[in-house]
Amino acid sequence: MLVALAGCEPSAVPVSSNTLALVAAPDEGVYVGVVLPDADLLVVLHRGPAPGADFRVVARHAVCDEPRSVAPLDAGFVVSCRGEDTLAIVEAPADVYTPARRLPLPRGARPFGVATRPGAAHVYATLSARGSLARVPLDGGRVVEAFGFPDARGLAWTAAEVVVVTRWRSRDGEGLLWRFDTAENDLHDVPLPFDPAPMQPDATGGGLPNLPESLAVSPDTGTLAVAGLLANVGGGAFRDGHALTSRTTVQAMVAFLDLGPHEAVERADARRALPPAGMAQGLAYTPDGESLYVGLPGAREIVRLSTETGEVLGRLTDAGHDLRGLLVTPDGRTLLADASLDRALVVYDLAAAGEAPVARVPLLDPADEPLPPDVLLGKILFHDAADPRLSADAAIACAHCHPDAEDDGLTWDFTDRGEGLRNTVSLLGRTGSGHGPIHWSGNFDEIQDFEHDLRGPFGGLGLLPDAVFHAGGLDAPLGAPKAGAGAELDALAAYVATLDAFPASPHRTAEGGLSEAAARGRALFESAETRCLECHGGPALTDSAFIEAHGAAERTPLLHDVGTLGPGSGQRAGGPLTGLDTPTLHGLWDSAPYLHDGSAPTLRALFTDRNAMEMHGHTSMLDTFAVDDLVEYLKALDGRAGD
Ligand code: HEC
Ligand code: HEC
Repeated sequence: MLVALAGCEPSAVPVSSNTLALVAAPDEGVYVGVVLPDADLLVVLHRGPAPGADFRVVARHAVCDEPRSVAPLDAGFVVSCRGEDTLAIVEAPADVYTPARRLPLPRGARPFGVATRPGAAHVYATLSARGSLARVPLDGGRVVEAFGFPDARGLAWTAAEVVVVTRWRSRDGEGLLWRFDTAENDLHDVPLPFDPAPMQPDATGGGLPNLPESLAVSPDTGTLAVAGLLANVGGGAFRDGHALTSRTTVQAMVAFLDLGPHEAVERADARRALPPAGMAQGLAYTPDGESLYVGLPGAREIVRLSTETGEVLGRLTDAGHDLRGLLVTPDGRTLLADASLDRALVVYDLAAAGEAPVARVPLLDPADEPLPPDVLLGKILFHDAADPRLSADAAIACAHCHPDAEDDGLTWDFTDRGEGLRNTVSLLGRTGSGHGPIHWSGNFDEIQDFEHDLRGPFGGLGLLPDAVFHAGGLDAPLGAPKAGAGAELDALAAYVATLDAFPASPHRTAEGGLSEAAARGRALFESAETRCLECHGGPALTDSAFIEAHGAAERTPLLHDVGTLGPGSGQRAGGPLTGLDTPTLHGLWDSAPYLHDGSAPTLRALFTDRNAMEMHGHTSMLDTFAVDDLVEYLKALDGRAGD
């Protein structure tokens, strides 16, 4: 079906990157495009102009590898394709047969956000792995990149040629956005500072703003709302004497920036936490600017905030699993939510009094579901907090610290768990327990052991029935295997085991090979002098394994003391910490800070500051150029065979 789109106007509302985009066609109603990254689809829905008309799917475009964001064009949609370093354009929303036109981006770009404005001849896109903002002409002309945006993610086009970009993972103790006037080449940092006040279980308290992804510009264009979470990295039994609880680990956050003609600044005292929910994602203003809808993906809820007082005015329940984007139609009648793991567009009628959705439009024919049933279930459990078996008060989900199964860039104080300061690990490429013992201290031997986290720090009831958990040694992490004890716990493990690919490193040549410096670094890494291969050998670059230990009560991991243990390193499983499980070295380019306690901010620091005792390989004989070469090699490692 081809629908003429003459006279269509992209809505001026979503000028920030989103998983949903709306194109209004005056006599024809509205078209909405939704990205479905797991299925590589852009799904287009239509609602006719007649009162009471419903949304129905009119096209499913096999658009590209891992579409993450979509923005409206004059007649169609533009999509960021994270898995293939392109933007894809679907010209007419309802034409099933037109293949998407591709706008190529530089290798290793991993684009995330994309934003347009009505009538513009170019779009902006965040290229997270290159740390750049790209200006991409829609006619296929030359892409211009501006650098200085490491880990760039969310994106809003706020005025003439002014964009605001979010840094996804906070570094150096503060959250950060950038305001960039591309016409004036004027770039400013917009900090979201750490709040040192203790995090309160029930009120706005302290914490570090992290994972800002969704942005929304107020209808009067004076305010930019930012959604993310507050991470309690100032708290913990070691850091401030207060163990983290399910309500004081992560809290959903909304911050507000004042958008001036020459700057953007966080509005003092307007930052808001929404406990007990652990994360906010998806934002949409009502057209009158009086309310802001905020998605709470773990809690499966959407709250309505007063833009004047910041108070919660209402709650929309049953919003579905893993909310990614929200959108209010320009007439203000309808709120749309992308419940990505339900593969559904959830429709709320804002004029009606009810709190529940009026429709839940399936985006996918169940027969086309790309994930096997257990993996999909596991992925849902990974992102959910509302199930009381997973977390008390819908507060914590795995995905709140492992967003997109990556790492949140933070070091947590797990001292009260019998561990210590622990740097979050990305799960990508690790295939669950495929690299041997789990965690820096090797205190788990199967993903099913996260049952202990659910029941402990998350405050959940656990996925296994008590009678099963407390029988036959299942209630010790390295005791009898829990695999096979419960279908849901096995599903969680099945999902984590599918994470078998490291993201491609941008620190490689255009052909995907090693640079000259990296090749010299590789020779150093493999030399007998440095001794790196003694522990970082084999395809996974780790000797992580359980070992024979006579007389040991439980399985014993191979641990090495490489001279990195410090006062905050704490314990292992409540006992002495004698060393650490050797980590893989693939994916290092994207996993700063380094070491179990996050004490090395850069790879260079590992060998210059943190290896004084020469216990972590031999590096003191390397001059500064040789260390550079070694670091270049380490940054290129991304799981490719032969390197
Ligand atoms: C509060 C933040 C937080 C939450 C919530 C969280 N993790 Fe983690 N995760 C971490 C940190 C920190 C580490 C490193 C800790 C360590 O190794 O001792 C980690 C490490 C891991 C690892 C180890 C990877 C490896 O190869 O060693 C796996 C697997 C993992 N988490 C899975 C999960 C699952 C599954 C859930 C949900 C049940 C979850 N995490 C919830 C912070 C978190
Ligand atoms: C005796 C075994 C051993 C040797 C030899 C060794 N490593 Fe390690 N490596 C480890 C252990 C254990 C850790 C974890 C230390 C920690 O977290 O404090 C580690 C951590 C690392 C990390 C940080 C990984 C991360 O995710 O934070 C890098 C990078 C690294 N090693 C590179 C090297 C290089 C390069 C060499 C040779 C110069 C080397 N290692 C030699 C065992 C070893």
